[in-house]
Amino acid sequence: MRIYDIIAKKRDGYELTDEEIAFFVRELTKENIKDYQATALLMAIYIRGMSDREMITLTKEMAVSGDTLSLSELGITADKHSTGGVGDKTTLIVAPIVASLGINVAKMSGRGLGHTGGTVDKLESIEGFRVSLSPDEFISQVKSIGIAVVGQTGQLAPADKIIYSLRDATATVGSVPLIASSIMSKKLAAGSETIVLDVKYGSGAFMKTTADAETLSRKMVDIGKAAGRKMAAVISDMGTPLGKCIGNSLEVKEAIEVLKGNGSEDLKEVCLTLASNIVSLSLGTDTAAAREMAEKALANGSAYEKFKELILSQGGNVSQIESPDKLPKASTVYKVLAPESGYIAEMQAEIIGSASVILGAGRLTKEDSIDYAAGIILHKKTGDKVTAGEAIAELHTNDDSRLKDAERLFLSALSFSNKKPEKPPLIYKVIK
Ligand code: URA
Repeated sequence: MRIYDIIAKKRDGYELTDEEIAFFVRELTKENIKDYQATALLMAIYIRGMSDREMITLTKEMAVSGDTLSLSELGITADKHSTGGVGDKTTLIVAPIVASLGINVAKMSGRGLGHTGGTVDKLESIEGFRVSLSPDEFISQVKSIGIAVVGQTGQLAPADKIIYSLRDATATVGSVPLIASSIMSKKLAAGSETIVLDVKYGSGAFMKTTADAETLSRKMVDIGKAAGRKMAAVISDMGTPLGKCIGNSLEVKEAIEVLKGNGSEDLKEVCLTLASNIVSLSLGTDTAAAREMAEKALANGSAYEKFKELILSQGGNVSQIESPDKLPKASTVYKVLAPESGYIAEMQAEIIGSASVILGAGRLTKEDSIDYAAGIILHKKTGDKVTAGEAIAELHTNDDSRLKDAERLFLSALSFSNKKPEKPPLIYKVIK
């Protein structure tokens, strides 16, 4: 078999056989395929698409391209995955909710890149928290307290690592079969029985429209089901940032508020929807009963207690959770004033995320370091009425030279109107 012939076949619009797909993934992982040949094939897939069979085979082959975790000894296991967003701290809330209800959460999370944040960075803003556990430590922590959250190891789905970096540099990220196989290969390799996906739509998401988000959701749910997993995808709005805080320690603080039964309604709603779908798939209860269980776990403090157990078990300073004022704090807090009166018609999540990166909350390259205290607190969001000169947000940073650029970018994300705008649905649909 030759990679040249596989490229030509896909270029001409034919379906690849399972053997051809397996050959590509295997030889790419062994570094026997040149980058230019791999990217030629990826571009052909981007343009020609893939049948469901091809996509399922690609995902399965990528999932077994490295280590796979077997969690069967742990009993009921669940995982969630967000396609990426701004202010998306849902893992910090959903994972302890479901773990407090007896469902084991063995979660591998990512770091932020570009305008989106990552759970691993958020957790590292807590003093001492260890995101790298050995596979044995990881499994034994889940056995003892029902929850562990770590960074993705390099050995899990290594083919995705290679393919993703090539796609990132060759304008081939936005392809449904390539995104679906990338996300699902990692989820399948990580081993959980229940997988609930949080598929974002809107300006801050890969999928800009509900139709595209629905197509991607359907494909990922079908891939997971074909591999014998219990699957759901929640399609939620990422036109506007989720909750009020963007930036690592600020988001940990906001997550603690929700875990204590307070916090923004939109954030709470997305978390409860994700948690109730995980609970209902894992325990076989109907979604309404599962929702009640999740609400109770927040109201009676058991989710908050589980979060503290997680932090303690991975070496984090729990006193920062009990007194969030002890989390990293920025030296400068700058108020952004409304430039005009009216309703906020739009607050584009991608631009707001980029403004938080300028303040130091994220990295533009994988090597950049992060200012854990940096970020943005939104006092007003899409649909709110404002008066010119009123504070609409706070910019937090330890580097004042970044303020002006961040403020300019932040304001460019906003548009105002005299009429109250229609808000897109926060939860568009749940696909099962
Ligand atoms: N997240 C992933 O892990 N892969 C993609 O292709 C897109 C988002």
